[in-house]
Amino acid sequence: MRLRMSLCYDAGMNIKSARFIKGIVADDDLLEDDKPQIAVIGRSNVGKSSLINSLTGQRDLARTSAFPGRTREINLFLINNKFYLVDLPGYGFAKGSGKERDWLIRLINWYLFKSPYKQKIVVLILDANIGPSEKDLEMLRALEKYGKNIIVIANKVDKIKKSELKQRLLKIQKVAGAHKIIPYSSDRKIGIKELTAEIFK
Ligand code: GTP
Ligand code: MG
Repeated sequence: MRLRMSLCYDAGMNIKSARFIKGIVADDDLLEDDKPQIAVIGRSNVGKSSLINSLTGQRDLARTSAFPGRTREINLFLINNKFYLVDLPGYGFAKGSGKERDWLIRLINWYLFKSPYKQKIVVLILDANIGPSEKDLEMLRALEKYGKNIIVIANKVDKIKKSELKQRLLKIQKVAGAHKIIPYSSDRKIGIKELTAEIFK
């Protein structure tokens, strides 16, 4: 019985295919095709695109960079031909021109808060090592205000000493309140199972 249950779990709750569809910067008919959207949001450089790669098991699916401001469009990845993972640009971007920064923020705010599109889940990524920033808190409050279904990722836990991990996670739990928190590391493949289970719930 136990074996059968685990087989059921594997069959229904895995990412079997993932492909890049396109990057959008405005309304797009594609997003009206009724497939659920799962958006990934967070500070620039926090690891949004890397999380999409680790989650799908494809190293180069989403473009990543050591420099903030890499993702500049709303990138749609079709998963299992059933739903979209939506990789967004980051906020809290310190470098680059003000114009570019404003444009990216406007794009994020449009997609999450003003567009006609609804997200099944918004995955908010926080850097567990650095801790939640002012801008992270602003984003979290805005997502709450708009009634989004939020999952909080405590990312880059591989950078934290074992002895400090609990403390850092508690700090994030404090700001995340009742939202589900998943400790995660794209580098060490930590949290992938937990996040996959939440997405397929
Ligand atoms: P923008 O598109 O610029 O907003 O950034 P992003 O949030 O998509 O970040 P990206 O995935 O491009 O990663 C930024 C940097 O963080 C890269 O140098 C990654 O290698 C690194 N990084 C991502 N995930 C992890 C992780 O789990 N652990 C560690 N140590 N580094 C990570
Ligand atoms: Mg990115």
